Amino acid sequence: MSVPLNAIAPPTLELEWERVELLAQCLLSSQRGAEPAGEQIERLQQLQARLERLRNSEQSPWRRLPVEDLPPLALDLLAAVYAAETRPRVGWIYQELQSGSAQTFATPALLSLLLAFDDSELASLRGLIAADGALVARKLVAVESNSAFSPLRPEPAMLARLMDWPLPEQTPPGAVRVRQRADWDELVLPTDRARMLREFLLWLRHRERVVDEWGGRPVGGPVALFSGPSGTGKTFAAIVLATELGWPLFRVDLARLVSKYIGETEKNLGRLFDAAHGQPMVLQFDEVDALMSKRGEIKEARDRYANMEVSYLLARIEEHQGPCILTTNLRSQIDKAFSRRFQMVVEFPRPDAQARAELWRRMLPQRAPLADDLDIPFLARAVNLTGGNIRNAGLHAAYLAAGDRRAIDMSHIAIAVWRELAKDRVQLNPSDLGPLAAHLPEALL
Ligand SMILES: Nc1ncnc2c1ncn2[C@@H]1O[C@H](COP(=O)(O)OP(=O)(O)O)[C@@H](O)[C@H]1O
Ligand SMILES: [Mg+2]
Repeated sequence: MSVPLNAIAPPTLELEWERVELLAQCLLSSQRGAEPAGEQIERLQQLQARLERLRNSEQSPWRRLPVEDLPPLALDLLAAVYAAETRPRVGWIYQELQSGSAQTFATPALLSLLLAFDDSELASLRGLIAADGALVARKLVAVESNSAFSPLRPEPAMLARLMDWPLPEQTPPGAVRVRQRADWDELVLPTDRARMLREFLLWLRHRERVVDEWGGRPVGGPVALFSGPSGTGKTFAAIVLATELGWPLFRVDLARLVSKYIGETEKNLGRLFDAAHGQPMVLQFDEVDALMSKRGEIKEARDRYANMEVSYLLARIEEHQGPCILTTNLRSQIDKAFSRRFQMVVEFPRPDAQARAELWRRMLPQRAPLADDLDIPFLARAVNLTGGNIRNAGLHAAYLAAGDRRAIDMSHIAIAVWRELAKDRVQLNPSDLGPLAAHLPEALL
């Protein structure tokens, strides 16, 4: 996590970090066989006395965190854990103290030395950082395992709250943030489909009214399935929805989450959903067909596990509080039993001639000069392309025109469409371009 250089922590916290740093320095000296200096001990005693008062005062910055009813030792621990981030020098000393480790976070073993814990304090430490212990349950520290040599880390959100730092971006593990934004008017869809997308948002905006006020059955999600051929705007529609909500969009790569190791997939999905639960974010699972198509056809052991993964994924998606968008290119292969579990199923059609004309108008760069012979309605009728094809061809035509130092004309478009179609066709004939073929330069044929 990056620390803003201008972060100025409140004075009491500065004293906390100073104390931890001093403790760490003293421990380092004693590991090297040297006595701590007298003035270090003196300063430590001073700090200890002041901090005791400050921690108990109404103004204690620790009160920003859920620390009520924790034993005093818990604040000592928190200060020592957080100091590795708030004062990076401390992190370096921790690393040195745990020689041979690349770790800048303290382990319980180190913390108990640093804070000079006796046996009963050590037991208390173990209790606080157990899976159901207060520090973990309240999400104050993150623990990987309950080994004495597994590092304790500050939970970024709590650290940010304590320090008044901007909230860290919480990317759920296994997901990738999609930064693209897009507005409704950029989306070219039949009116009823656009309407369905807006209705999907109602499930998010009016949950309180319908569930809390009117007693509607609470369900997870909402979950939408977008189906349709590649390039028809399924992913783009997810961007539009996230933009409209003002929420970040995260794309989940299922292929990456589905592990060849049995049981790992559940674990990976579990981590993802735990991190995303109840957060204001849109999760998008792209091309889920691989997971959903084979249900019921158990031919070999591998398939059986794939089926377990499917049920687990669907169960997790259903109970997840927050919008999920699944996309697939193969509607027909999706089990009807699946579709019934979604709040909304939207089919994305290939655009008709009118929609294609609309797409061509948008996809040619806005300020590009257009030749007089450029006939968009003709072009739209001539070749049955998807929005994705038109986006690529429109841009390629612009580069061709720029290379020719001319306005975009029909020959540029014809070449660009030819190139676009050639991407997924081995054998391409001019007739595939329909009447647009007349504009292909001789040299290409
Ligand atoms: N219906 C559409 N309306 C507007 N733009 C579209 C549409 N379909 C495709 N596009 C354009 O093509 C690009 C690729 O489409 P994409 O959403 O990735 O298709 P899909 O996810 O269905 O395969 C989009 O980023 C967008 O620029
Ligand atoms: Mg897509």
